[in-house]
Amino acid sequence: MVCTTCRRAAGGAPAARAPWPGSQLMEALESRPLPPGVTLRPVQCLAACAKGCAVALSGGPEKWTYVYGGLDPAQHADALLEAAALHARTGDGIPPWFDTPAEIRSRAVARVPPRE
Ligand code: FES
Repeated sequence: MVCTTCRRAAGGAPAARAPWPGSQLMEALESRPLPPGVTLRPVQCLAACAKGCAVALSGGPEKWTYVYGGLDPAQHADALLEAAALHARTGDGIPPWFDTPAEIRSRAVARVPPRE
């Protein structure tokens, strides 16, 4: 899930007008080939507004969901897709920490456990 209404890039000052950084991040991701098992879903607000741009990597009721923030559409699209591919390949949604690109894992905002 990609928040397309985020007004901040890399957690900086809010943009004054559209196109919002969140929609720019979505466009950057859409312009790239998606790894197997990765789909994009635009959403409006992940409640991480002060840390935009924000995305959530989810994968169904058996997987942990990871929320990342402080993303920059101009810098993080490739690493984000790499992290999403890693998340997609796991059974439990917990990617090996050191395999996740450093510029993404350092931007973790929250992780949410799977349903019991
Ligand atoms: S507007 Fe993007 S997290 Fe709230």
